[in-house]
Amino acid sequence: MFLFRVAYQKLLKPILFCFDPEAVHRLFVRAGELFGSTAAGRWLVGRVYGYRGPDVSRVVDGIRYPVPVVLAAGFDYNGRLTQILRSVGFGGVEVGSVSARPCAGNEPPRLRRAVRSQSLVVYKGLKNDGVDRIIERLQSRDRQPGLVVGVSIAMNNDPETATVEAAIDDYATALERLAQADIGDYYTLNISCPNAHLGENFAHPDRLRRLLARLDTAAVNKPLYAKMPIGLDWDSFRELIDILREHGFSGVIIGNLNKDYASLDDADEAPDAYRGGLSGKPCRELSTELIRMTRAYVGPEFTIIGCGGILSAADALEKLDAGADLLQLITGMIFEGPHLMRDIARALADRRLSTASRSRLDSNVADGREQPGRAHGNRALL
Ligand SMILES: Cc1cc2nc3c(=O)[nH]c(=O)nc-3n(C[C@H](O)[C@H](O)[C@H](O)COP(=O)(O)O)c2cc1C
Repeated sequence: MFLFRVAYQKLLKPILFCFDPEAVHRLFVRAGELFGSTAAGRWLVGRVYGYRGPDVSRVVDGIRYPVPVVLAAGFDYNGRLTQILRSVGFGGVEVGSVSARPCAGNEPPRLRRAVRSQSLVVYKGLKNDGVDRIIERLQSRDRQPGLVVGVSIAMNNDPETATVEAAIDDYATALERLAQADIGDYYTLNISCPNAHLGENFAHPDRLRRLLARLDTAAVNKPLYAKMPIGLDWDSFRELIDILREHGFSGVIIGNLNKDYASLDDADEAPDAYRGGLSGKPCRELSTELIRMTRAYVGPEFTIIGCGGILSAADALEKLDAGADLLQLITGMIFEGPHLMRDIARALADRRLSTASRSRLDSNVADGREQPGRAHGNRALL
């Protein structure tokens, strides 16, 4: 494992980072499909990156995640990798964001690296094959056992249909098609894409209400989440949470890309004009703080999926400690390497072990056999 980690950091990453990020992404998706198409390929990848340790699974909204780390929306946007991602160490994948019709996305370049700031500048503009083609693909390939498949839904991003009404129709059509085809274990409404022609248009109380009033009529019997923006002040954010809860949402993903270029560690890496949202490190603190505040506000019964700037196992634990039930990531896997998911699973297992021995110690203390140590008041450990 150590060898693969060093090989990625010192050899493969410096080479990959010389090439256009979208081309590298296409290469990895193709390689993932190839490895995923044979038992030998899956076994090989699983030997290198799969997690084989104590149980770290979690059940969230009735869905069992073998590892509570999900590949966030945007990497496998066309649903091509459901045969390999368990072997890479993920417990799930969020396919999409998917729109009702195929969407060409923004003009290239759609992706660039801000290496010193550990971030990607993402200007994809919801490029995807459209819901029908993606349903067909997901139906035609057996997913790896245990892998949870969620689907993120967004509106089409054609300039000519960039009206609120058209966008609401797009969301509703995509959601209804997915629900009818019984594809996906859960659905996420991406209400906060920073690169669509309508902007973050549904991260706004009135429009969100209109969207949800329409979606209330869709027959969906799976958990529904919303992907939240991370650039709002707390009062505006809380208002959106209230609306989502009124409409029976199971939880939220906190959150999407950061639009504020002042958050880059190195200001020289900022594009001259707005050219997409930032992933990775510039998202970390904002999302963790919103997770903490949301958990304090909603209590334990509302799911929070923590996403944004998880670049190490410590970052993952920080999000869980703040109140997240599950984790999602992309950029950490690219900057640190595909061993990150296994590192996180191991950190979780170590924690569970130390909590278990802690509980044993506490019961011994109660029996008068041991002296107490430092208490663990940590929700994520329970
Ligand atoms: C290349 C790329 C494409 C993305 N596309 C989407 C998308 O289609 N829908 C979505 O909800 N989020 C999208 N995102 C945002 C991620 O899901 C995630 O919220 C964000 O990158 C923060 O996580 P990270 O720091 O682990 O990358 C995209 C991110 C990246 C890097």
